[in-house]
Amino acid sequence: MRLETATTISASDIYRRLLTYVKPYWLVFIISIIAMLVFAATETGLAAMMKPLMDGSFVERDLDTIKFIPLALIGLFIVRGVANFITSYGLGWIARNVIKNLRTEIFKSLIALPASFYDHSTPGQLMSQLLYDVEQVANAATDAILTIIRDSLTILGLLAWMIYLNGMLSLIILLTVPAIAFLTFKISTRFRRISKTIQGSMGDVSHISSEIIEGHREVKTFGSQEYEIKRFDKVNQKNRQQRMKMVATDAISQPLIQFITVLGLSVVIYIATLPEMLEQITAGSFISFVAAMFMILTPLKRLTKINGKLQPGIAAAQGIFALLDKKPEHDAGTKTIERAQGDIRYQNVSFSYSHEKGKVLEEISFHAKPGQTIAFVGHSGSGKTTLVSLLARFYPLSSGQIQIDGIDINELTLVNLRQQISLVNQQVILFNDTIANNIAYGQKQHVTNEQIIEAAKAAHAWDFIERLPDGLATQVGQNGVLLSGGQRQRLAIARALLRDAPILILDEATSSLDSKAERHIQSAIETLMKQRTTLVIAHRLSTIEKADQIIVMHDGRIIETGTHAELIAKDQHYTELHRLQFQEQTDVSDN
Ligand SMILES: Nc1ncnc2c1ncn2[C@@H]1O[C@H](COP(=O)(O)OP(=O)(O)O)[C@@H](O)[C@H]1O
Ligand SMILES: [Mg+2]
Repeated sequence: MRLETATTISASDIYRRLLTYVKPYWLVFIISIIAMLVFAATETGLAAMMKPLMDGSFVERDLDTIKFIPLALIGLFIVRGVANFITSYGLGWIARNVIKNLRTEIFKSLIALPASFYDHSTPGQLMSQLLYDVEQVANAATDAILTIIRDSLTILGLLAWMIYLNGMLSLIILLTVPAIAFLTFKISTRFRRISKTIQGSMGDVSHISSEIIEGHREVKTFGSQEYEIKRFDKVNQKNRQQRMKMVATDAISQPLIQFITVLGLSVVIYIATLPEMLEQITAGSFISFVAAMFMILTPLKRLTKINGKLQPGIAAAQGIFALLDKKPEHDAGTKTIERAQGDIRYQNVSFSYSHEKGKVLEEISFHAKPGQTIAFVGHSGSGKTTLVSLLARFYPLSSGQIQIDGIDINELTLVNLRQQISLVNQQVILFNDTIANNIAYGQKQHVTNEQIIEAAKAAHAWDFIERLPDGLATQVGQNGVLLSGGQRQRLAIARALLRDAPILILDEATSSLDSKAERHIQSAIETLMKQRTTLVIAHRLSTIEKADQIIVMHDGRIIETGTHAELIAKDQHYTELHRLQFQEQTDVSDN
């Protein structure tokens, strides 16, 4: 998907846009360029020094010149070294700043992107953009600037010196340049094509490996090691093949370009050593000319290879800019409410994730009065999670309206709307931080330890926290791996209690727990539900019998509503679900 959108931004747009990132550092940039100019001048100076060195010392035996040469050499290299340092340091400084700024922008854009974006991208791909592609862009740009400016200046300086020494010989050198230029152009187009595919396959490599890292338990229990290895082998192999194409192109291009250059060189040497020429040219001039010629080769080679270095950078930049250009979550709301009463009304709400998949919810209407508990039941895939996630505006409605306290939720600002809602679901996301900070996550004002402890106690989490060696200061490990499912769930409840939002959404909050653990935290959940409007999706029907209203869902539609007693009396869908679950439970206890 990244590659598709990438092609829409042209290379010149990329350069222009990259330049805007360099703009704030223009002063350092100019100093670096001046240093490059000085560096190029010293290169020419070095070649030029060959002439007096040869003519003065060995030919004319001019002692004054000989004395001057070593000092000049030292001076030249001091200047050259300083210029080199300023260039590398300056460009490196700019590059690191640009990398930092790009990462901040990407991070901010990731945070602002809507849920639908995450439905269609993989963490591996995004991580590789944030970590790898950003470096790639900056390095390619630095290399490019260094080569294009410094090496071109060096070549120009040396060429000028050569023309000054002997115009005729220089002409021959100049004739080989178009041939080299043509070759490089051909090669670079190929590079560009390949490097795009490489980045795609690199994303695949990181995507699959991050999956087995995150899902290592699944891989082990399902015994899918072989399958994963095969899958990885495939993308790894593809990555190698793409890389090899690049290596091959690179390997062929170098000797080819060198050969053409040497062809020119040989002609120069042949002509220069013709008797008529030898008369016009001093030994010093000839040596100086050949020295300049050799000194041109290295920067020239770099210049011809610059495209190969630049292309991965451009491909990476295209991906990054495409990501930065993604629209953030739509938020046209302007109204805010201090603290909602918790009156929730769904009116003919229909929704589909995409045109192809069709409607996931159809004509959903219900009304929850402040403080009421509404329970949703139905088979998996019937649309319960989707239904409640629409309340927090994770996705825009296809039609219909949702109101909180009589206000269309689209009219509220996103921040204000979400402030009214606490969400606890099956997978509790804990951050790699202390227990205290996990409970206080997202709190705008300072929260005292007492408040945290109070919340933990109400969530029945304090017992186990207290027993931990570091108590509230215990690090939970990445995504809370050091805690049991029930403990994590209780932390999530404590978090929601502290958040104290008027609307509570419980989406199968306890379904990862066994019935015993569930009973244990049921009272914590009941504390949480007090004085809040609660939308609860329950896995076990026994937990929702007290709900004010139970809504039975099937295929995105409401097929039955009523209290537990009413629905049981009806003896239809709800009763059927009840019977099924009762069977399941007896099946389980039989085992
Ligand atoms: N992020 C998503 N993108 C596309 N389709 C989805 C997404 N989430 C759920 N669905 C689809 O929407 C339907 C309802 O899913 P969901 O609301 O999760 O049901 P439930 O919570 O009742 O199990 C299912 O067909 C599911 O495949
Ligand atoms: Mg669900």
